[in-house]
Amino acid sequence: MTANIIDGKLVSEQIRGKLRGEIERLKESGVTPGLAVVLVGEDPASQVYVRNKARSCEQLGMYSEVHRLPAETSQVDLLALIEKLNEQSEIHGILVQLPLPKHIEEKAVIEAISVDKDVDGFHPENVGRLVVGEECYVPCTPAGVIELLKHADIEIAGKHAVVVGRSNIVGKPVSILLLQEHATVTICHSKTANLQEVIQSADIVVAAVGRPEMIAAKHLKPGAVVIDVGINRLADGRLVGDVDFEDAKQVASYITPVPGGVGPMTITMLLKNTVEAARRA
Ligand code: GUN
Repeated sequence: MTANIIDGKLVSEQIRGKLRGEIERLKESGVTPGLAVVLVGEDPASQVYVRNKARSCEQLGMYSEVHRLPAETSQVDLLALIEKLNEQSEIHGILVQLPLPKHIEEKAVIEAISVDKDVDGFHPENVGRLVVGEECYVPCTPAGVIELLKHADIEIAGKHAVVVGRSNIVGKPVSILLLQEHATVTICHSKTANLQEVIQSADIVVAAVGRPEMIAAKHLKPGAVVIDVGINRLADGRLVGDVDFEDAKQVASYITPVPGGVGPMTITMLLKNTVEAARRA
């Protein structure tokens, strides 16, 4: 058996097609959805992400502005910029690209973003709403994971979903979303005992650890659904996920590639959240 490949680019295109119509309607009523992206420092991967986010906004007819600040920017100056963006009516969503330089406290920055403009869904108030099942901005990558599962018509309810990784950006929120879809969820991390056995018991595996190709066919239950959130650049320049794709696809029933799986969905969900923010405003 070889797995069905879930094409994140295709699903993204379908969702962006729908968003385009919504953006047109909002513009007719005098509102152009606007996103501000803030990048501090010169991290090469972050520069690529930020460029892609801004370009995707423009392709859909949204307004975007990118604030590129030097790595030595003070926390006070960054917070002042966020305060200004909070007040600007043409900006509906604010995203501060992570990670931030070490001298800046991530928590202070996330909490400075207006809850109503927190299209990343990282503000503790949005996280709290997510946990209790209230309306909120759902973090983009986790939302993208669920969309991919739904587009592939994969039953989540009653399944054992194993999330490998416990970050605030992916592991924790995607676990909550899977739970809301009635999966039985196990969250694994670096201290998990018998990691292999746990992964082997999974109907759905979400890999979000940042370790190149750590999950292979031998770790998987035959027929498992494998969603790979990892994006790792190898020394030879190749981009690979946390899953050994060529190997794992021999036993999985569905699998996402890297690139072209979860990656495009993250930006699409960001655009969706920004359109939603504009509609609410
Ligand atoms: N860095 C890696 N992923 C993300 C994300 O989804 N949002 C932000 N702001 N930074 C990130």
